[in-house]
Amino acid sequence: MKLSFKTLDDVETKGRRVLVRVDINCSVDPDTKKITDDSRIDAIVPTLKELSKSKVVLMAHQGRPGSNDFISLEQHTKILQELRFNVSFVDDIFGEKAKAAIEKVQVGEILVLQNVRMFEGELKKAPPDEVAKEAIVQELYPLFDLFVNDAFGAAHRSQASLVGFTTVLPSVAGRLVEKEIRILTEATATEKHPWILVFGGAKVAGKVKTLGKLLTTGRVDNALLGGLLGQLFLIAKGLIPTEYSAPIKGFESAVETAKELLEKYPDILVLPQDAAIERDGKRVECAFHEMDGDPFFDIGPATATKYMQMIRGAAVVFANGPMGLFEKKPFATGTKCVLNAIAECEGVTVVGGGHMGAMAINEGFADRVSHISTGGGATINFLTGKKLDLMVALEEAARRMV
Ligand code: 3PG
Repeated sequence: MKLSFKTLDDVETKGRRVLVRVDINCSVDPDTKKITDDSRIDAIVPTLKELSKSKVVLMAHQGRPGSNDFISLEQHTKILQELRFNVSFVDDIFGEKAKAAIEKVQVGEILVLQNVRMFEGELKKAPPDEVAKEAIVQELYPLFDLFVNDAFGAAHRSQASLVGFTTVLPSVAGRLVEKEIRILTEATATEKHPWILVFGGAKVAGKVKTLGKLLTTGRVDNALLGGLLGQLFLIAKGLIPTEYSAPIKGFESAVETAKELLEKYPDILVLPQDAAIERDGKRVECAFHEMDGDPFFDIGPATATKYMQMIRGAAVVFANGPMGLFEKKPFATGTKCVLNAIAECEGVTVVGGGHMGAMAINEGFADRVSHISTGGGATINFLTGKKLDLMVALEEAARRMV
């Protein structure tokens, strides 16, 4: 398969100063703030190994300002050290401290900059030329010979650290981006049906919009919903009370979109039909009318059984986002059931996203699915057929490099 952008095969990296944007946004325990899964760090190892004769600086985000998992990248650095990389961390992104540390990086060494989302300008989403004006790009790019983008998980974000550098530095894809694009392109090429999307998790506002785009492609036969996304649709349909909207960020506009989608695609959207709630600190499975305002943390057994049956008979399954609050062990059941069925399905199966991908690996399903993608939102956006922002930026960079 011929790629539309350049890769590490197309550039000389030996001895050069290379800025690498990765997505090592990991699952974090909300109470202890400790990383609970580091599979996204493992996924960038091939690129880092290939750059072992370069002076490497890593740039990445973790969480979003205000979220539970918005933490420094020090823990990520320690994990890289445990993987035997010669790596250090600087608590700065593009200030004097960072620049001084970057100057000192030697061949074979890696420097990790602080979480790029601690810089407000990184949160702006705009075309590459515009975000390239942000200080993070303007201050850092003169210090490098090459930009490598290996942040597949964030490939749908047009933010400065992701697409800004491609306008000012020779830029190529890292090995992870290359692998994901190749595999997903092949997996989406099949015309086989039934084609099932299993869609859950939080980040509801963005997901409901992406779901709308994906449904217009006509590709999806059924979308099985869970997690907070499932709850949004249950509220939109009047099946559970609006008080369950409290944990859903951006609820007001998301619920309107959900109502439109329910009207347009009543036979495609499949909603949970029972719940697992937390009562007196325990998992209790019940019908919606028995929930009594207790937190709705997982899909119930009837839903799990129905979803498993549909998944087993599918020709293609794409799954992103857990069915419940899997961080609390009793509420990981729904997600595990779904993953089990995906492992049993004989069709093309792709599990994506930090949380669900990590769980598939931890539960030992890695060898039983066609592909575990590091992308969640990125993978679902890829399925809509719209070119990912990261790809567009790398393609433009490739044209300039010619
Ligand atoms: C992800 O986990 O989906 C990526 O790291 C992107 O994170 P974001 O949705 O916060 O931009």
